[in-house]
Amino acid sequence: MSEEPKKEEGTPSILDKLKIKKTGVRPKEKIYQPREDKTTSPKDDKPIQIKLDGEFKMVATCMQNMEPELEQELIDLGAKEIQVKRRAVEFVGDLELLYKANIWLRTALKVLKPIYHYSAKNDDELYKRALKLPWETIFNSEKTFSIDSAVSSTHFTHSQFASLRIKDAIVDRFRAQQLNRPNVERFDPDVRIHLHINDTSITLSLDSSGTPLFKRGYRVKQHLAPINECLAAGLILKSSWRGEEDFFDPMTGTATIAIEAALIACNIPPNLNRTNFAFEGWNNYDVSLLSKVLGQAQEVYRPLKVNIYAKELNSNNLRSARMNINSANMRKSIALEQADFFKTPPPSDSGVMIINPPYGERIELQEGLPDFFEKIGSTLKHEYSGWDAWIIASDEESFKNIGLKPSKKIPVMNGKLECQFRKFELFEGKRVEEVIRRSGKKRD
Ligand SMILES: C[S@@+](CC[C@H](N)C(=O)[O-])C[C@H]1O[C@@H](n2cnc3c(N)ncnc32)[C@H](O)[C@@H]1O
Repeated sequence: MSEEPKKEEGTPSILDKLKIKKTGVRPKEKIYQPREDKTTSPKDDKPIQIKLDGEFKMVATCMQNMEPELEQELIDLGAKEIQVKRRAVEFVGDLELLYKANIWLRTALKVLKPIYHYSAKNDDELYKRALKLPWETIFNSEKTFSIDSAVSSTHFTHSQFASLRIKDAIVDRFRAQQLNRPNVERFDPDVRIHLHINDTSITLSLDSSGTPLFKRGYRVKQHLAPINECLAAGLILKSSWRGEEDFFDPMTGTATIAIEAALIACNIPPNLNRTNFAFEGWNNYDVSLLSKVLGQAQEVYRPLKVNIYAKELNSNNLRSARMNINSANMRKSIALEQADFFKTPPPSDSGVMIINPPYGERIELQEGLPDFFEKIGSTLKHEYSGWDAWIIASDEESFKNIGLKPSKKIPVMNGKLECQFRKFELFEGKRVEEVIRRSGKKRD
């Protein structure tokens, strides 16, 4: 746990920047009106417009196997024409939905707005078509920009070169319009463009999020093996827990799972404390609309009705957990204590727990991994009847060592590790009696 803290302190959050108080008072600021697009394409003389008013198509990207949760989140936000793809969900909506999607989606990594789809077989074609786009209607010369790319094609073997040709097209387009050229900034650009190439099929999108959405803004201290915030939220959503019974994160590390649980239970958007979204760099950035979306988000806050417990054995990790909980304003909602899961009694009689145990690869264990998982199994069996325990782990052997029969098995990815998220329903006596007992209670 020797990694240097990565402070996000001192940077104003989006709420601070817009001067939104808890009362939801909105600043009066002028709405920017984008210039009318009079651009014409040299080939067919038809103007190419980048549609950012009315309704348009968007794509939210996610981790593998998080598509069902992302789809449900988009349904809840009122998205239309939803189509589930691999690691992405397409949908239709307006600028307000684009802002809401960035602020509210717990499982999305980015929200992209496709602007141009075309076919190209070589770098020259790639460049020429991109040159026709009225980039100057999206952002002005003072903004910096960058191009991210995802390339899978035999025609374009160097993704960096393809990105460079799009960069050239953008710069040349500004010059051709007698405008100053915008500068490229690799690390912290104002505007981000996403280039996707699949064989000869090219899609250019505006990346409305910028820094990926799992960077919520509450993580103060970096831990050696924190779980990704989108994964943590996705696991909670998969468990069906929504804040109606107690929740326990017994090996909390930096408290990501406990914090995401508190955000879900209180109906707080995960990205309320973000400092920046890339859509703020666009010409059509509508600060009043964003203020409205943030103000509405605060109005739907739900007070916590249950307990959220978190335990951690390691002192350094405990300190990180405390700092993150404070930074997320969840000090009063999460009961954090330094404790050994194996040596302390359950925090209450029943509830839902999500265990993210050490994988043995990145975190050293005093005992071997088999013994550690065996101890998890026997602790659950002997101490936790009445609870639903969900465990995320990467290998079958570890699950075997738990020695309990799961009632659900869901494949998930934790970074590059293929994992399983398994549910164990813990009860004393016969299963049939437990089913009858629980039938009065709404559980997954
Ligand atoms: C994979 S990490 C959890 C990461 C966490 N989900 C996060 O986002 O930071 C596992 C954690 O379990 C803790 N741990 C290991 N044995 C424990 C025990 N017996 N009781 C409580 N915590 C324990 C480790 O110190 C470590 O912080």
